[in-house]
Amino acid sequence: MACCYVAEFESFQELAKEFPNSTFTGSDITNVFADFMANAPPNCTFLEADTAKGLPFDDNTFDFVFERANMTCFSNAVWPAVLRELIRVTKPGGYIELVEGCLPKNAGPALTQHVDWCTYHSPC
Ligand SMILES: C[S@@+](CC[C@H](N)C(=O)[O-])C[C@H]1O[C@@H](n2cnc3c(N)ncnc32)[C@H](O)[C@@H]1O
Repeated sequence: MACCYVAEFESFQELAKEFPNSTFTGSDITNVFADFMANAPPNCTFLEADTAKGLPFDDNTFDFVFERANMTCFSNAVWPAVLRELIRVTKPGGYIELVEGCLPKNAGPALTQHVDWCTYHSPC
């Protein structure tokens, strides 16, 4: 099984050890996996990529694609392109898991300003 993680490190590492016959590919716009990759199991790879601009994988590459906690990274305008990209790299019949929360509503002025920026003005 081939898995793509636009995700967090602990589960990436645990799953890679638990399923040594599967391959795990991590992706982030910055090299946030550097410490982890220094001692990563051999079935793990990581690469830097801007998901909004396109992941450097062929169509139908992964059986499972996981994404988490990017709600403050991608503006509403960008999410459709991100989702299309996750779908593109997933094999037919594969699975995509998205783990996101909700940005707060009726917050105070500073948090409202932050939420508006994430929602409408985030650079990605
Ligand atoms: C809140 S962190 C979540 C990290 C990880 N997904 C997790 O669940 O622990 C958001 C991550 O998204 C990355 N990021 C921001 N914009 C991105 C983009 N356009 N493409 C790929 N990754 C991006 C950031 O570098 C950061 O590591």
